[in-house]
Amino acid sequence: MATNLNSRLTLNNGVQMPIFGLGVWQADNASAENAVYAALKHGYKMVDTAKQYGNETGVGRGIARALADGLIKRSDLFVTSKVANQDHGYAQTIAKFDGTLARLQLDYLDLYLIHWPVDGMYVETWRALEDLYAAGKVRAIGVSNFDVHRLQVLLRQGKIVPAINQVEFNPQMQEREMQDFAREHGIQLEGWSPLGHGSAMSDPTIGAIAQAHGKTAAQVILRFDVQSNVITIPKTVHENRLVENADIWDFELTDAEMAAIRGLDKNERSLWYPAFGWYGTDTDFGMATQKWPDSPVNYDE
Ligand SMILES: NC(=O)c1ccc[n+]([C@@H]2O[C@H](COP(=O)([O-])OP(=O)(O)OC[C@H]3O[C@@H](n4cnc5c(N)ncnc54)[C@H](OP(=O)(O)O)[C@@H]3O)[C@@H](O)[C@H]2O)c1
Repeated sequence: MATNLNSRLTLNNGVQMPIFGLGVWQADNASAENAVYAALKHGYKMVDTAKQYGNETGVGRGIARALADGLIKRSDLFVTSKVANQDHGYAQTIAKFDGTLARLQLDYLDLYLIHWPVDGMYVETWRALEDLYAAGKVRAIGVSNFDVHRLQVLLRQGKIVPAINQVEFNPQMQEREMQDFAREHGIQLEGWSPLGHGSAMSDPTIGAIAQAHGKTAAQVILRFDVQSNVITIPKTVHENRLVENADIWDFELTDAEMAAIRGLDKNERSLWYPAFGWYGTDTDFGMATQKWPDSPVNYDE
């Protein structure tokens, strides 16, 4: 059982990944820099970003400051980024990887994911990730937003089994089918939008459990993730919330409480293939990288 921010799960290649970290989607570079620095100051060991978020530069600055100030050692830190949709394909993926490393001011990544499975291209993209892994540039490779069908394709056509599938996971969306499939194939589940992008915290069942433990709704949800063995990466740019979200090690949800939260599953996704165009190269949304005004470095790719 995970006991603190340094608690790790062992991935299928033996790499140890923290079970809890910071997400930074929709944070601009300055906010991401400050949030990452504050998180590392408060003992976080993991950061989840993506080229698509347009804030690898800010994340890199926050990490560089934290390393320089001795808040953490590089070997204790776990950094994830993701292949953007417009970079799919073997040659592009290899070529664009160095940009991610440079923006993050790192010489290797801990985990590199395919952000969304662009149909017709993701197998080639996976081949590039396998080669980046073989070259020692990333410690583990995985995918995000893959359904069972697309994972099966990858398992058939790839050489390496993905270490991670990062999918939406929160009280309303508990990915039952994927949980079973991933377990069966040694793929670790990582959950995005653990707080339902903010909305899951108002659920009355969660509220009652929170009251019983003297904790907040966010803490109950994040504790549920950890007790479910799902790696969780709540996003906040506020230092007080960073501390609150990470303060989940001093209580345990009972079997009945775990069951009650499992009962909230509506199997409802906030973003998925049909309604959301990130699975194709031909949609504006899928091609878009968030371009924060303070980071021209994000404009050139
Ligand atoms: N792979 C993918 O396709 C994918 C998709 C979505 C997300 N992700 C990853 O998962 C991370 C988390 O998901 P998310 O950002 O969508 O949503 P989330 O973590 O479920 O929720 C974040 C929202 O909740 C607020 N919040 C955080 N802690 C709070 C607290 N203790 N009390 C009240 N409000 C709180 C945040 O506001 P403030 O920041 O203002 O505090 C923000 O609005 C992302 O940042 C990203 O790294 C990946």
